[in-house]
Amino acid sequence: MINDDIEMDHSNFSVDHIAHAVPNIEDAISQYKTVFGAKVSDIKIIEKQDIKIAMVSFANLKIELMEPLSDKSPIANYLRKNPKGGLHHYCLAVGDLNQAYGDQKEKKINILSEPTTGYHGRNLYFIHPSEVCGALIEVEEHEKE
Ligand code: CO
Repeated sequence: MINDDIEMDHSNFSVDHIAHAVPNIEDAISQYKTVFGAKVSDIKIIEKQDIKIAMVSFANLKIELMEPLSDKSPIANYLRKNPKGGLHHYCLAVGDLNQAYGDQKEKKINILSEPTTGYHGRNLYFIHPSEVCGALIEVEEHEKE
């Protein structure tokens, strides 16, 4: 039984955002606005990842909307299997990314790439979905205050 009164100790990782792959970002933005009155950022083109993105802001969660820029985008591949769109990955932030990367490498965790700098200037990497029951997980450095 879970006792909610007891303060649980927790991991060094905290949720940063959830990414929603969509076939049309303008439609997705208008749906989030209509259904939830959500605040949404401007659309950004990220050439390096072959996607365009926009961030939907909720009080305690950001949703990253991603639309592929071309057929070669990894998101295009995802949309071939999920044509209406779907939840693509979630992102956990950590204070010391290189430390987390080193620890997981040591544990032989299957990491998809070396840490690389994201469009927002923070370092990140992805963990292979086979490591945690099929979920693609992005690990990102905490936003500097
Ligand atoms: Co992400």
